[in-house]
This record gives sequence, C-alpha cells and structure tokens, in this order.
Amino acid sequence: MEQVYELAGGVTVSRMQPTIGASISGIDIAGGVSAEQVESLKQALYAHGVVVLRGQDAMSFDDHLGFAAIFGDPISEGHVPDRPQITPVTGKVGSKEGTACYWHSDGVYKPEPEFASILRAVDPCTFGGDTSWSSGVAAYANLPDEVKRQLRDMRFNSSLTARMPKDYNHFGDGDNWNKLHEKYPPVTQPAVSAHPVTGALALYVNQSWSIDIVGMDEGESAAMVAMLTAEIKRPEYQCRWQWQKGDVAIWDNRLVQHYGVPDHTTGRYLERITVANGPVLSIADWEASGAKVKVVA
Ligand SMILES: [Fe+2]
Repeated sequence: MEQVYELAGGVTVSRMQPTIGASISGIDIAGGVSAEQVESLKQALYAHGVVVLRGQDAMSFDDHLGFAAIFGDPISEGHVPDRPQITPVTGKVGSKEGTACYWHSDGVYKPEPEFASILRAVDPCTFGGDTSWSSGVAAYANLPDEVKRQLRDMRFNSSLTARMPKDYNHFGDGDNWNKLHEKYPPVTQPAVSAHPVTGALALYVNQSWSIDIVGMDEGESAAMVAMLTAEIKRPEYQCRWQWQKGDVAIWDNRLVQHYGVPDHTTGRYLERITVANGPVLSIADWEASGAKVKVVA
C-alpha cells in the first residue's frame, strides 16, 4: 500500500506510520459527506485504525452528530444540557487525573463498549496535550504463536468503579459513584477482539480497564496483563497527533488503543461523540459467524 493514495469521492489518504494512522483530505463535514466518501472513510478507518481530518472549523454540533452516525449509533450518556451525546474532553495544566493518560480503549467496562470515537478539537491546547494511538492489530500480530494460542479464548474482568476513586469527578460529583457502580456492574471482555466488519484481530487487553484475567491466579494474571499492556507501548505500533483547532479524529476502538499525553501547557476543550455497534466479538464469536479471521501483519 502506498503512503499516499486516493479513494472514491475525491478522498486522499496520507498514512502517518506503517502500522497505524492516516490523515484524510477532500472531505468537508459541514458541507455534507457523499455516499462515496462515507465508504472511503470507513475503508481508511478499518485499514489504519485512526484517521484525522483537518480544517473542519465550520462544523456544528449537528454536523458532528450526523457525521458520527456514519460509524454507528451515537451514545447519549453525557451531562451537557441538550447535547447528551457530547463528552467534553478538557485538560488542566499539569493534571494527570483520570484514565486518559493510561493506554485504553473507550467504554471497555460496558457490555457493549464504544465502537468508534469521534473527537473534535474546538479549542485545543496550543502546546502539548497530544493524543497517541497504538495499533492493537500490530501488537497482536507480532505476539509469539504460543501466546496467541493462550489468548484465543481468554477473557479479562473490567469494572468502571473499580478504577474510579469516589472523589473523581469526571463522571459527575462524588455522590455519583454509587449510581455508576449500579449502572455498570463488572463485565468480562475478550483479550483479543475480532473486528465486526473485517475480522481483523487486535489486542484488547488494556492498561486502564483490564483488572485481571478470568480463571488465572493473581500472580499469573498480573504477569499476563503486564506483558500484554507493555506490548502496546512499543513506538513502532504508534502514531501521535498534535491538535489544531478544527481537527476531527475518528478512531476504531476495536483496532487501536489511545493515550492522552498529560503535558498540557494551556487549558483545552474538545468534544467527543462515541457510537455503539454491538458487543466486542471474540475470535470464537467471529468464527461462529462463518467468517475467517484475518490477522494483519
Ligand atoms: Fe479515551
């Protein structure tokens, strides 16, 4: 595959790194996205895991919502009045609070975690505050065969409130913790996800949300989680984006993990909309659908 290539609808794809990421030009979200461009965007997203469009300053909340709906059903769980689909993404200077500055996928603690996340830079940090993504597909592909065999049917335990101190206010005030504890009971997720469209296999164990491995003793489980979460930190699987006002990033949580670099030198304000597209499929789930798994080297 070329580093820069064209897709239908006048879409140009410029790959960021050999294993992950692309910037896309030729699309104006506010002006309307054609059916051809929708197909091209999906093709690029599934091939590269994360794609970024620059210069989308003219877009409104409605444009953002309509654009997100290309990739799945927008999730409405936020606290912004009249716009419950929005999760504000802010960053205080010097703050390392929360789970964003650990490698993770979004919503892993839910029975049906976020499929894609669409993040719009309304007022980004002027220096620092980048986002990094890492390819779970490349990380999985390069694991030894013996480890892949171990991971095949492996699941991990996840829980929102197990990871959230009671005084952490990202999801509301401290009193909200009990409500969240009831709303999001512990779940298990597959260690390896099979992409629902392409079948691509990706490492889904992640530092933020994988508490331990189902059926393993504590020491063995901690060693396995540490080994797998170290893999995702390899720079050769990563790309990193320096935000400009008007940028829109779309990433596929079944293919990549991300990390908010906590080195903001100014405040910032970005808006995220996430979309659902069913539960995370294990390799066995995917095979049961009659399809062949795809391991991308
Ligand atoms: Fe996130």
